Amino acid sequence: MEKDKFKKLTNEVGAPVADNENAITAGPRGPVVMQDVWLMEKMAHFNREVIPERRMHAKGWGAYGKLTVKKDISKYTKAKVLQPGTTTDLFIRFSTVAGERGAADCERDIRGVAVKFYTEEGNWDLVGNNTPTFFIRDVHNFSDLNRAVKRDPRTGRRSAQNNWDFWTLLPECFHQITIVMSDRGIPASFRNMHFFGEHTFSFYNAKSERVWCKFHFKTQQGIKNLSNEEATKINGMDREYHGKDLYDAIEREDFPKWTMYVQIMTEKQAKGHHENPFDITKVWSHKEYPLIEVGELELNRNPENYFAEVEQAAFTPAHVVPGIGFSPDRFLQGRLFSYGDAQRYRLGVNHNLIPVNKARVETNDYHRDGSMRVDGNYGGAPAYTPNSYGVWTAQLEVSEPPLDLEGAMYRYDPKDDPTDDCFRAGGELWRLMTEDKKQILIENTAADIAPVTENIKYRHAVHCYHADKEYGERFTKAVGLDFAKVIELSKLSNNDLNKVTYQEKMDA
Ligand code: HEM
Repeated sequence: MEKDKFKKLTNEVGAPVADNENAITAGPRGPVVMQDVWLMEKMAHFNREVIPERRMHAKGWGAYGKLTVKKDISKYTKAKVLQPGTTTDLFIRFSTVAGERGAADCERDIRGVAVKFYTEEGNWDLVGNNTPTFFIRDVHNFSDLNRAVKRDPRTGRRSAQNNWDFWTLLPECFHQITIVMSDRGIPASFRNMHFFGEHTFSFYNAKSERVWCKFHFKTQQGIKNLSNEEATKINGMDREYHGKDLYDAIEREDFPKWTMYVQIMTEKQAKGHHENPFDITKVWSHKEYPLIEVGELELNRNPENYFAEVEQAAFTPAHVVPGIGFSPDRFLQGRLFSYGDAQRYRLGVNHNLIPVNKARVETNDYHRDGSMRVDGNYGGAPAYTPNSYGVWTAQLEVSEPPLDLEGAMYRYDPKDDPTDDCFRAGGELWRLMTEDKKQILIENTAADIAPVTENIKYRHAVHCYHADKEYGERFTKAVGLDFAKVIELSKLSNNDLNKVTYQEKMDA
């Protein structure tokens, strides 16, 4: 602000502006005239200041920081950003998922955590959440999940009924529902939560040997959460509570830190794994695949301008660097398309030229022209390849190692896989919980599902029962259902359970 003191007001092309308070009128009490061009410019710009919000994760906060690699994982990956001793600048954006741009921070929801690492091999974006797993696993279900958790088309209101209807018809949601309804469903701050890449990704080393990996970032501030009552109170007083907490901590130089870990699974282990290792609704046992420490992520600088840096930030799982790759996870594959597509709509085709998104290394991509091309557009360099000038040649040596795939092309339902169990992980989580955590989970779930019709409550009760008999019994009791009926319903296949718990059948 200091540097702007005593500077003079200009229009958008630098000409001095005479008056910014009084419109030019025909006579002291007369109408405004068209020749108050500064007024026209001001009004027209204002009308165009709102850009589309992110379709989900619309409400968010950002900060800059660095990743410092302290351990040696070079036997797994050749990525320069992950070599011992390397420090890489980054930008992070935390978000809620269901709420719009003006939503309150302390809602029960998962938190998005998207990190852009400005590496010397180009940008690597890790676009994760504060849970190690996700609701669903087929990319087809993604838009429907968001339709179910966002606003009802008729009332324009959020609807617990829609939410729980969708979640319970897809049993793979169960593990994530258990997490969201647990004490971790409303973090006390972004600083007090872990975050995860969730998907299975891959690493490959200098010898082109591939392993599968998962990313974990554990808070050094300790886990802290809010109860429903605390969150309701905070939301009533300060809807920007988490944003303020992050900003203030960085301003007072209390820099939040996370320890980065990876889990590694070899290709051979993946083939013999007891369930699909590429299913995002499953987690890998820490006992079998222990956390391997990598380094430390620290946040240490607030953005100068919210719109320029946070609102215009654009992350995509498609941005990887040599040594880090994707996996056959069908959900991840869908994301590889979706983000860039959304950003071409939300920010325009040249959004990677916006400073927060721009790589810190030279880019030579051949993309030309397009709306808001504000740099030199590669001047007179050849616009085609191959060319005879040796300009911007592809680098075959950075190719990922080949991957063997199996099976015929078909629409496979993961529930038909005999190794698939949608309730095991949720049950294990329940049994890991202390008694007070179990009680919080039951109370939160009962409160959240209270406005929902009975047929859907039965569906969830059966899922709880499949996960753990005690979990099923306590949920059933908390919402006043008939436990004998839950046991009867639990004998049905998933398809039959869904059918008999359709609204009209239960009402009959
Ligand atoms: C097929 C599944 C998914 C699709 C199609 C999808 C699509 C999208 C889209 C279109 C956006 C808005 C992007 C923008 O406008 O910049 C978004 C944001 C986001 N997604 Fe997903 N998503 C999927 C699953 C996931 C999963 C599994 C995670 C976590 C592991 C995740 C984490 C995020 C985060 C953190 C953001 C906000 C990024 C930011 O801060 O700008 N999404 N997603």
